[in-house]
Amino acid sequence: MKVNGTHYRTIWLSPDDPSKVEIIDQRQLPHRFVIVSLDKVEAAYSAIKDMLVRGAGLIGATAGYGMYLAALQADDSSLPQQLTQAGSYLKSARPTARNLGWAVDRVLAAVAALETPSAIRQTALATAATIADEDAEFCRLIGEHGRSLIEKIAAAKGGGRVNILTHCNAGWLAFVDYGSATAPIYASRDAGIDLHVWVDETRPWNQGSRLTCWELGQEGISHTLITDNAGGHLMQHDLVDMVIVGTDRTTRAGDVANKIGTYLKALAARDNDIPFYVALPSSTFDWQLVHGTDIEIEIRSGDEITTIAGLTKNGTIESVRVAPDGVEAANYGFDVTPARLVSGLITERGIVAAEESAIGKLFADKI
Ligand code: MRU
Repeated sequence: MKVNGTHYRTIWLSPDDPSKVEIIDQRQLPHRFVIVSLDKVEAAYSAIKDMLVRGAGLIGATAGYGMYLAALQADDSSLPQQLTQAGSYLKSARPTARNLGWAVDRVLAAVAALETPSAIRQTALATAATIADEDAEFCRLIGEHGRSLIEKIAAAKGGGRVNILTHCNAGWLAFVDYGSATAPIYASRDAGIDLHVWVDETRPWNQGSRLTCWELGQEGISHTLITDNAGGHLMQHDLVDMVIVGTDRTTRAGDVANKIGTYLKALAARDNDIPFYVALPSSTFDWQLVHGTDIEIEIRSGDEITTIAGLTKNGTIESVRVAPDGVEAANYGFDVTPARLVSGLITERGIVAAEESAIGKLFADKI
């Protein structure tokens, strides 16, 4: 997607030095566009843990390249063992996004039968690149499938403006390109559909106000920032035609874990008969899980709630306290929306009911 008119992905191999991987430091957006170079598996781990990169798809792509960096660092004599250790280390960076473990295991499986260090290193890189390319292509396809839903709503409104509500950032910045929830929006814009996006600010990390608004602005998509609690009110007043969100981990029965607050949007959407869609590449499915209640929910530092960071008048990014000193704060990162509240899953293979047998049929080869 575009940044000041130039196309970027969110992760790429350095063109000057193929032993380095480049990312955008998302902690500094929207105030500064800073590219950071990763040269070690430890740097990839910290980038995921400290949220320089975030969002399920990009966490997976970073883990894939992290495994490549680990392969470069390792001694020839113990490369396979060191790679296995690096995989466990990377997996421990954040718990909820399925793509993290999926990407690590994919690289380990790809190199498992190889004998020479150079073949292992080459294959680790090729697999990381494939994970990233596939992520971008799957999101593009999600856009094509999701566009048909938006087209139907536009037609039902006689070509009137379609209002879409989204939570968190399931956009380009959460993936390698296009995004999942945003891909149908970009595809509909390209098809000439008049649309507008309500963006939940998404406290406490503000993925909505900081990232989704910036991303949609760069792409020239009409959007309005709202507080996290405004969605229900807008739905009651016919100001929302559909909700599209992403997911960090999806069970085989269609329960979805996504950024905290998603569940409440799904409840409000159901109460107001508004379609609630979840957009995801299949890398987000956890085929071992049926019940969303078994998904591990990340609990982050309470400091993210008691303080808030922003741009000062003199151009520095600073953090200020918004709660009493010493207050106890519980910072749950995700919640689970049960399949019964999901109108459908928009995947790279098409739109499927959030239901075990339908999902199983569409992805029979993966289960
Ligand atoms: O904590 P984050 O910013 O990594 O959480 C991201 C989300 O919850 C996204 O909505 C989610 O990853 C789905 S889109 C990849």
